[in-house]
Amino acid sequence: MNTYRIAVFVGSIRRESLNRRLADALIRLAPADFTFYHLKIDDLPLYNQDDEEHPTEAMQRLRREIAEADGLMIVTPEYNRSIPGLLKNAIDHGSRPSGHNAWEGKPAGMIGVSPSACGTAMAQQHLRNILAVLDVPTMAQPEAFIGYYDGLFDEAGCIGLKSRDFLQNWMNRFAAWVRLHARRVSE
Ligand code: FNR
Repeated sequence: MNTYRIAVFVGSIRRESLNRRLADALIRLAPADFTFYHLKIDDLPLYNQDDEEHPTEAMQRLRREIAEADGLMIVTPEYNRSIPGLLKNAIDHGSRPSGHNAWEGKPAGMIGVSPSACGTAMAQQHLRNILAVLDVPTMAQPEAFIGYYDGLFDEAGCIGLKSRDFLQNWMNRFAAWVRLHARRVSE
């Protein structure tokens, strides 16, 4: 069976991160032919163009891990109406050196959870702008701006009943997006 490898890109390294919990719960809704691994981004240096000639091990690892992916699942909080600096820093690292954009062509889906009503909508809009210039085919619909509530996750860490259909549909559409893109690439 063909399997699709998905790099999970979480924009928070907080111990109790809601977005990390959301990412892990979504993985459980994925089809059997999808496998997931988390991109490690917390040891990347602050991006500095001077470092491009002598990339650290963490910078090289990030490029390798992006290269291995058939798709990207980006799960991010919103910080001050945009994406966290941590996420932008990793995106910048993967985009360089000039002409060696590791993100190019990787089909992506984005989603995020926030305790507030806006549910990461503005962060996601900014992220779409960034991914466009990096030539990342980004799933447009369904949009998923999740406002956190008690019961979003059940005791086992799965998506709770109230949101399960919505998020199962998101995952089904994301899987279809990755498959569609894989077919286009092989044609
Ligand atoms: C936030 N938070 C937040 N929430 C939101 O919906 N819109 C926003 O603009 C912001 N801005 C913001 C800035 C900073 C610096 C912090 C630390 C937090 C709240 C944020 O959604 C909340 O802390 C989430 O729980 C963060 O995600 P994780 O770490 O739980 O995944």
